[in-house]
Amino acid sequence: MAENKILEVKDLCCSYQKSVGLFGKKETRQVLQHVTFDIHSGEVLGLVGESGCGKTTLARAILGMLGGYSGQIIHHSRRPQMIFQDPFSALNPARTVGWILEEPLRIYGKYDAAERRCRVEEMLEQVGLSASCMSRRPHELSGGQRQRVCIASALIVWPRLVIADEPVSALDVTIQAQILQLLADLRQQYELSYLFISHDMNVVYQLCDRVIVMKEGQIVEQAAVDELFAHPQHEYTRQLLRAAE
Ligand SMILES: Nc1ncnc2c1ncn2[C@@H]1O[C@H](COP(=O)(O)OP(=O)(O)OP(=O)(O)O)[C@@H](O)[C@H]1O
Ligand SMILES: [Mg+2]
Repeated sequence: MAENKILEVKDLCCSYQKSVGLFGKKETRQVLQHVTFDIHSGEVLGLVGESGCGKTTLARAILGMLGGYSGQIIHHSRRPQMIFQDPFSALNPARTVGWILEEPLRIYGKYDAAERRCRVEEMLEQVGLSASCMSRRPHELSGGQRQRVCIASALIVWPRLVIADEPVSALDVTIQAQILQLLADLRQQYELSYLFISHDMNVVYQLCDRVIVMKEGQIVEQAAVDELFAHPQHEYTRQLLRAAE
């Protein structure tokens, strides 16, 4: 029964090697331990847990950016795209927004210059930016505008699954609300699934259908969002909810 699943992660374990002490002895640190979950087609799955618990590591593993892991990551869709926390460092400062947005299409290789331009214009409109942004560079935009460009760049190749790693935590609260609304609108329009990584339980409550709670590299609880907020099963989940009040 895999047809409504967009991603399956089974028994995923990841470790980092780090050098310790004067002689650079190698030490292995388990960062993800036996992580198992699915993302269903069209769902927004929240991933919460304190800083350092392994959320970004999990995202990187799913995107194929990590070498050393065991377990299975089974994709049932096109390659997922990523939206990062810091929209500034994610964008090439030397290039214009038009160039940046065309780049995934150039790599895709299927579209000529006119088609690419047409798609870039359409995508800019869908993320609430004007076509005049095309000739600007990232530093000429506000933080919120830059995050809109990152979202456009992720969606321009029609992914089915988008991984958003703290996509609004670097933004002002009013801008956060606008970007969250945009992500919700685009989800409808593109029938997207999201893995939505956040520290902020209130944001998770607004956007997510289901939530997994991670502590020290392990999933301690996963439940529908209403269920999780009404009846948290794990003490650690209760702590996170209390901290968000
Ligand atoms: N490239 C790396 N090499 C060695 N250790 C790493 C590396 N990247 C992350 N770590 C360690 O792995 C653990 C998990 O890091 P990760 O970035 O996945 O946490 P996170 O949950 O995303 O935290 P945050 O909420 O602060 O973004 C941390 O202890 C971190 O120090
Ligand atoms: Mg992180």
